[in-house]
Amino acid sequence: MSFSQIVPEHIQHIPPYKSENPAEQVERKLGVPVVQLGMNENPFGPSPKAVQAARAFLEKIAPYPDDSAYFLRQRLASHYKISMDEIIVSSGSSDILAMTYDALHSPGAEVLTGEASFVVFYQLAEILNMGLVRTPMKEYAFDLEAMAERITSKTRLVVLANPNNPTGTIIGRAELDKFMNKAPDHVLVVLDEAYFEYVNDPSYPNALDYVRAGKPVLVLRTFSKVFGLAGLRIGYGISTPEIIETLYKVRMAFNTNSVAQVAALAAWDDREHVQKSVSMNRAELEFLYHELSKRHLRYVPSHANFVLVELKKPARDVTSALLDQGVIVRPAWGCPACMRVSVGTHEQNHAFLAALDKVL
Ligand SMILES: Cc1ncc(COP(=O)(O)O)c(C=O)c1O
Repeated sequence: MSFSQIVPEHIQHIPPYKSENPAEQVERKLGVPVVQLGMNENPFGPSPKAVQAARAFLEKIAPYPDDSAYFLRQRLASHYKISMDEIIVSSGSSDILAMTYDALHSPGAEVLTGEASFVVFYQLAEILNMGLVRTPMKEYAFDLEAMAERITSKTRLVVLANPNNPTGTIIGRAELDKFMNKAPDHVLVVLDEAYFEYVNDPSYPNALDYVRAGKPVLVLRTFSKVFGLAGLRIGYGISTPEIIETLYKVRMAFNTNSVAQVAALAAWDDREHVQKSVSMNRAELEFLYHELSKRHLRYVPSHANFVLVELKKPARDVTSALLDQGVIVRPAWGCPACMRVSVGTHEQNHAFLAALDKVL
């Protein structure tokens, strides 16, 4: 019997997930430094205070980490004015997403999301063989009215990224309120707010209000984006104590390393660095808009640290040509004629535009 025969059929059909074009690999191939605008990271890096805290902690890595992430949860709880049992910390918000799917999957259970969103939403459903319902986007945003109509007795999870990756759009409070009023109790609504800190729009809802009202909502946030700690893998979820406790049942023990915990605490406290990153992102986003318009390229105005650009031809052709020029950007998931460009430093954005001029 070959190994593949013991692997369930639905797993056999999944293409292995390998991060596309890791910067180091491309650099080795091209022999020059690459411009990484494919991962929506913070191009200005982490707070120097976070780096210092991580470095100072390296002497103390023999013991297992504090499995409860006590100090970080305490800091987050006091900031959000919620109790510590409404917070879970883990190795990235996608890990909490995985726990959520693990906890709720059962024969016949379905996940509902949009057609063009975060790749992990789809992958987790495939891994667990859950039914996946994807509704078409409406002008690049989630169509919540259409989604509400697709909820059935089998739906267990509705997964929404707000802002959405790869489109950069947001769901406004009025629209979300309407949706939440329609969502039945047997459905957990996940609001993935990985880019929360970048949003500056008065219509952006305060997702914690739903949690405070006792709704079945899980809010996910991360230290991977504006805090610049993607390499340390740390994120958190906020929900009702009952939902958080359920996630603890399926969580892998000791899954948040101790260096990440101390770095996240220091990064959290450095508000100045967050502010600086957000305002530099805004300025660079405006610069990109201006330059894209000059080239008659349509883009979707973004609430995050990346922008979706319409290409009117297969995005993969353009992103491969850009890769040959040493610039990494991504074809957008769910929109084959669009590419997603992370906002870089001014220098990186210039390099992207120069490469774009060569390939278009
Ligand atoms: C919508 C969304 N959620 C979550 C993540 C991943 O976050 P983390 O690094 O905390 O797992 C990303 C990263 O690209 C994302 O775009």
